[in-house]
Amino acid sequence: MFAFLFHSKNMTEKEIQDLRRQYTKSTLSVKNVSKDPFKQFEKWFTEVMNSGFFEPNAMTVATATRAGKPSARVVLLKGFDERGFVFYTNYKSKKGNELEENPFASLLFFWDKLERQVRIEGRIEKVSEQESTDYFNTRPYKSRVGAWASKQSSVIENRSVIVSEFLKYMMKFRTHVPLPPVWGGYRLVPDSFEFWQGRPNRLHDRIRYTLSKKIWKIERLAP
Ligand SMILES: Cc1cc2nc3c(=O)[nH]c(=O)nc-3n(C[C@H](O)[C@H](O)[C@H](O)COP(=O)(O)O)c2cc1C
Repeated sequence: MFAFLFHSKNMTEKEIQDLRRQYTKSTLSVKNVSKDPFKQFEKWFTEVMNSGFFEPNAMTVATATRAGKPSARVVLLKGFDERGFVFYTNYKSKKGNELEENPFASLLFFWDKLERQVRIEGRIEKVSEQESTDYFNTRPYKSRVGAWASKQSSVIENRSVIVSEFLKYMMKFRTHVPLPPVWGGYRLVPDSFEFWQGRPNRLHDRIRYTLSKKIWKIERLAP
């Protein structure tokens, strides 16, 4: 089955197995990281912003149902500070429903050019309606209309369903587009961070921060 799939894409299984790189760009140690994981993130994120990524703020958000069945998807980070990491979405989407029943989530950044990965875990809360409105109003007109048009994660018959919803809301909101009641921000409030720096021979550097009694404990993990 797999062999068939690989051949049909003109790539052999061996070619895939042979994809590997040596990581040599940087290093990480308990001594050279910031004591504050938010500051460490800010330092790395500044480097990412200066490294010509197409979507520097793209991150994977993993959520899970109450029963622990996980799902993951990419969203865009829209802000971070010492309170946490914010993204915007539809509160009635699959992720929104999962967060409703289980507020624990995990964020993942992979910046391949810098040979870096960051994992952040914690609890998710909704940002205030005012914060969502402020951000919503910065979005381009058609993106604001799109937020009304899409009942995110629901099954639709075909593409014309969403196109006609879009046109309907364009007619309805010709200039001012209010914040849709089901749309807004989530903030992940971290209790754990892991910074991963690729190193030669798979002996990567991994530094983990865990919050215990308001103090960030810093430890090295085996790669
Ligand atoms: C680069 C990229 C950025 C995305 N940004 C967002 C985002 O900021 N918010 C969002 O709701 N979906 C975003 N998406 C779409 C999500 O990956 C996903 O399809 C959608 O949120 C529905 O996920 P769900 O059904 O698990 O709730 C983005 C997708 C990609 C590939």
